[in-house]
Amino acid sequence: MAEPASAETLTGLDRSVVEPFLVGILSHLYGGVFTIDKNKRITLFSKSAMWLTGFGLDDVIGKECGSIFRANMCRNSCPFDNAIKKGSSTNRRYVEIYGKDGKPIPCNITAFPLRNTEGEIVGMAEIFRDARELKALTSQLLQSDRLAILGQVSAGVAHEINNPLNGILTYIKLMNRKLRSNPAAAESLGKYLDTMERETRNMARIVRNLLDFSRRKDPEIVPLQLGEVMEQSLLLLGDQLKVHNIEVVREDEPGVPDVTGDFGQLQQVFVNIVLNSIQAMPDGGRLLIRITAEGKRKSFVSVNISDTGCGISEENVAKIFEPLFTTKGGKDSVGLGLGLAIVQRIVEEHHGSIDVTSKVSKGTTFNIRFPAR
Ligand SMILES: Nc1ncnc2c1ncn2[C@@H]1O[C@H](COP(=O)(O)OP(=O)(O)OP(=O)(O)O)[C@@H](O)[C@H]1O
Ligand SMILES: [Mg+2]
Repeated sequence: MAEPASAETLTGLDRSVVEPFLVGILSHLYGGVFTIDKNKRITLFSKSAMWLTGFGLDDVIGKECGSIFRANMCRNSCPFDNAIKKGSSTNRRYVEIYGKDGKPIPCNITAFPLRNTEGEIVGMAEIFRDARELKALTSQLLQSDRLAILGQVSAGVAHEINNPLNGILTYIKLMNRKLRSNPAAAESLGKYLDTMERETRNMARIVRNLLDFSRRKDPEIVPLQLGEVMEQSLLLLGDQLKVHNIEVVREDEPGVPDVTGDFGQLQQVFVNIVLNSIQAMPDGGRLLIRITAEGKRKSFVSVNISDTGCGISEENVAKIFEPLFTTKGGKDSVGLGLGLAIVQRIVEEHHGSIDVTSKVSKGTTFNIRFPAR
């Protein structure tokens, strides 16, 4: 069997053999490849790079790479500056470059220094892989999780809407009766009208909450209070918490700083975790929620969600963030095993971290930390 080609065997080969060999690899490689010299001017641009970006050789050869790709990274933290000086490489960094048509192209990039035969750095090579498909898939995953949660909460919401509706109907009947028997009683009807107004507002709020949650929106990164996000998440699950006899205790520290993030996605994080806690306490229990500032200069906001449910075995704790891992296969509760995988992804996208501690038959605590604004 032939020996696999190593760097040594390749450099030992005749240029006429190596050249077509490299050209063959470059033109068939899935990702785009380009090289730059020490002044960051493009010296080589592969066919797949042209296909991916829409640029032709005339557009790019000899041009400074930042002026072509216009990624944020080019202005703020060009990986080549360090690489050219120190010889370090960049592996699988996510970046958005701009194609010839001006549209952004999400990519994962790998960049490494190029050396001459004396070992001196003469430039850099960069391989970039199209991440559009991956991005579309993850956003589909997010949406399907939203729909799954929606299915679980909609029965509860229907029940919640029914309660205020019944209240309104009762007061309408009462008002009718009073008005018919005694027109002077109209004055006292104000309080019934107040109740009806309150109940109707409640109903509108529940429906709006549900619509916000299910509607697919591009993330909108804004300053927000995690306490407020938690409040809205608990509202959505109010009925399920009541039905399962779960006492919710809030111990938020006052004056916690804002974080920056997408309200809907962070709500999805809290709903998923609280829903898991509800499912872990089918016969009631206590849910303790503490939102506090952490770090020397209050540089983190920590959210602690603790339940008194069934707990997670040591063996399973390591697996709970894996997509499709679930222990809910019975006829009463069916899980997809997506909730926590999505939670983890959203937390990471918000530059946060998540930890869990659990004891079988005692309960589970999730701790999530986000950088303060
Ligand atoms: N608070 C909790 N108490 C006990 N077990 C938990 C808790 N949270 C998560 N788990 C365990 O982690 C597993 C994975 O949770 P995850 O939310 O990802 O999926 P799921 O709840 O099974 O399904 P889905 O969320 O897609 O409906 C659960 O099946 C359960 O075994
Ligand atoms: Mg779940």
